[in-house]
Amino acid sequence: MAFDLTRLHPTNQQFLARRAAGEGLLADGQWKASRDGKTFDTVDPATGAVTGKLSLASSADVDEAVVAARGALAGWKATTPVNRSKILWAIADIIEENIDALAELESLDQGKPLFVGRWAEIPGAVNQFRFFAGQAMNIEGQTLESSIDYQPAGKQMRTWTTREPVGVVAAIVPWNSPLVLTAMKLAPALAAGCTIILKPAEDTSLTALRLAELMSEAGLPDGVLNVITGFGAETGASLAAHPGVDKIAFTGSTATGRAILDAAKTNFKRVTLELGGKSPCIVMDDADLELAIPGVANAIFFNGGQVCIAGSRLYAHSAIYDRLVAGVVEYAKGLKMGHGLDPETQMGPLVSVRQAERVEGFIQRAQADGATLLAGGERSGEAGTFIAPTVLADVSPNMEIVCEEVFGPVLAVQKFDDVDEVIAAANDSDFGLAASVWTESLSNAHRMSSDIRAGTVWINCHAMYDPSLAIGGIKQSGWGRDSGKQAMDNYLEWKTVCAAV
Ligand code: NAI
Ligand code: MG
Repeated sequence: MAFDLTRLHPTNQQFLARRAAGEGLLADGQWKASRDGKTFDTVDPATGAVTGKLSLASSADVDEAVVAARGALAGWKATTPVNRSKILWAIADIIEENIDALAELESLDQGKPLFVGRWAEIPGAVNQFRFFAGQAMNIEGQTLESSIDYQPAGKQMRTWTTREPVGVVAAIVPWNSPLVLTAMKLAPALAAGCTIILKPAEDTSLTALRLAELMSEAGLPDGVLNVITGFGAETGASLAAHPGVDKIAFTGSTATGRAILDAAKTNFKRVTLELGGKSPCIVMDDADLELAIPGVANAIFFNGGQVCIAGSRLYAHSAIYDRLVAGVVEYAKGLKMGHGLDPETQMGPLVSVRQAERVEGFIQRAQADGATLLAGGERSGEAGTFIAPTVLADVSPNMEIVCEEVFGPVLAVQKFDDVDEVIAAANDSDFGLAASVWTESLSNAHRMSSDIRAGTVWINCHAMYDPSLAIGGIKQSGWGRDSGKQAMDNYLEWKTVCAAV
């Protein structure tokens, strides 16, 4: 049964009414319909009910948004760091003031349980804007002692560097954690003085559109942020290929990351890519299982496993294998699935029927390959988007379920006996986004955090985020880092100045 939209927070009802009017694209501070009037539906994934109509941006709409961003660039670049910082801080405040309504909108659109948005992701978005409000005032060049022999009469050589915004940024974001991943692109780009065209994912555009309204209210000048909605293969591809874009900041699948690279090569756009993962959770024989059992279960089942850093490969030491796996299976079976807006819900639906079918296919192929199903496995719900928390044992290193990103609540469990063996197994992956190690041994913690090839290693925890910490991967998990002061480098170029003065 469709969720009764009249029960939504009043600001969300008003927002959906504005969206229903069909003016869902933002360019140069103006909300407009797409030029050809085309729209597409957005749905509540738990029920399949249509919750709104979004504008479908064609290449002409993309062009208009790019022109707007380019037009606003000089003014935003010239805005002093303290004034950029003030606006970023005001954006953080306004998100925080609207946190309940934004969490509700995210649940309705994406499916996630209310608590995920309310207590993890939207506070995470607020923190991104606060952190980068600080970074806006911390952009540094260098002065360098020159070794250049050339000295015209009466002159000396002076050399220095400055940082400049990279220019017009296309931010292309996915559907798993829409608002916080959007914040991770927008906050550093704005801090650096860039202007932006944001393309949210087709399944989850609502909070991006609401965020854009709030950002204008917070004082962001017209044209600095522009938003286009539509499908990846048309709207997204048209933005990625646009010659007026200087940089693409992308989070999403490895396959789409490759398409973005192809599109970027025409004018050598700068590209950062936060891509897939197949992150290992390694539980040693000396681990505190009271901590590790809920820890590794949450590492995979949080947000229904639709998390780039989800702990989807569990390596259990043979000495604790039985207890650990029994604990994780019990945890999986106890999770309450339901509509994201039901306060009792611990795990919501997957974002779309397409994603649920994809995940179900992985589970079926794993069983055909010889895996044993210990929990979950089935798809349910009126829209067919719920997948029960799934645990698969008796898997081997070459199976698809161990090698490929599933992006659903599916855990593949393997047994190991010694530390060298498990480090080699953890590193035997095309991906290198994240890992967690569960151990009470200081030596294991140090050794493994150093030898595991991943962008982040957590010890006795998983998926802990802080705006000061960089996130990103090695190997096929991507290029560059989001979050942390490293993210400023994504949006700044170096300029060298060499002067005879
Ligand atoms: P996707 O990578 O295709 O979508 C992400 C974003 O890219 C969306 O905004 C989409 O509209 C856009 N996009 C798609 N094709 C594009 C193109 N040719 N040019 C420019 N933009 C384009 O992800 P999809 O297909 O929705 O999900 C497929 C799989 O990708 C998932 O099962 C999961 O394994 C992985 N994925 C990983 C994410 C991560 O955070 N690492 C996030 C989302 C998906
Ligand atoms: Mg939706």
